[in-house]
Amino acid sequence: MKALVLSGGKGTRLKPLTNTTAKQLLPVANKPILHYVIEQITEANIKDIGIIISLETGQSIKEAIGNGAKWNARVTYILQPEPLGLAHAVKTAQDFLGASPFLMFLGDNLIQGGVTSFVTEFNITKPDALVLLKEVPDPRLFGVAELDKSGKVIHMVEKPKQPKSNLALVGIYLFTPQIHEAIAKIKPSWRGELEITDAMQQLLDKGKTVRSHILQGWWLDTGKKDDLLEANRVVLDDLLKRDIRGEANSNSQVVGRVEVREGTKIENSTIRGPVSIAESCHIKDSFIGPFTSIAAGTTVQNSCIDHSVILENCSIRNIERLSDSIIGRNSEVTRQEDSIKSARLFIGDDARVEL
Ligand code: TTP
Repeated sequence: MKALVLSGGKGTRLKPLTNTTAKQLLPVANKPILHYVIEQITEANIKDIGIIISLETGQSIKEAIGNGAKWNARVTYILQPEPLGLAHAVKTAQDFLGASPFLMFLGDNLIQGGVTSFVTEFNITKPDALVLLKEVPDPRLFGVAELDKSGKVIHMVEKPKQPKSNLALVGIYLFTPQIHEAIAKIKPSWRGELEITDAMQQLLDKGKTVRSHILQGWWLDTGKKDDLLEANRVVLDDLLKRDIRGEANSNSQVVGRVEVREGTKIENSTIRGPVSIAESCHIKDSFIGPFTSIAAGTTVQNSCIDHSVILENCSIRNIERLSDSIIGRNSEVTRQEDSIKSARLFIGDDARVEL
């Protein structure tokens, strides 16, 4: 079995962060999303991994993952010149995939508990495809599957106006090489993409078996700002362990599940977990509240932050309360004592500011 990870795409909904960073490398609890994906694939004992990359962000993905040796895996990079859809990505990877069955994993998706049981089910039951589904409140935003009474998939459609079920397709699929023939027969959709749901519908139309597996744990699709904050919250809540490697002075309190990495100094501050603070940060006269991740090299002074993700080398000073925020690398957020009622902004393209 091989794996195909989709790490191309445009990442439009996460601009401006994706102007400079690949969406799949944005951190969740101070670890790139793509690292969780590779971990889950290798845990399922799949070591031959193809990664779809784009022209824009391919180099940074290569630098972050390398040849896969860190996970005891072999990584092959496959350039998709344009993001023409998930099925187009599979088509682009056809030489790499050959006649092998494969696990396809969207590089911005995370699920609780990994994919091992799902891969085992596929190997035992031997369907033509196996999809992972999750009950969602508004299925109109997703690919949706309709099942018969025995749980077999009978119909699939991308973002239906009137969904026939509340079962969304999670970005993790298992395929036999049959999928290549199906993809060869489909046409681009109204949005100009080759849709993987259309390819699977093609399998169904040809009488092939598509099994489903309904996910009980969490599923995080980190495509938008609030999704990324939610992913950070869920992963900190579920996976973080207390681990203090930096220094906290005697006037500081570090309460609950808090990770403080090497070289970080905490002075006269309270940190209330779950919180992850990466290497070489300086937290002074501040409160860092639950569900916050602060990346390496950031300074926080005289401020209160909760439920937020702060990327590398930021400086946050004199901010009474910063909540539900994502702050990009090398940013400065400050309040000047003389300008309480006026906001002075120097903001990059595609930014969003709520005052
Ligand atoms: P999407 O989130 O659907 O697409 P996107 O990354 O272009 O985002 P946006 O809609 O905000 O512009 O893609 C899901 C995953 O699949 C993501 O990791 C990117 C990847 N992908 C490809 O590798 N190739 C493609 O052609 C597409 C459409 C997505």
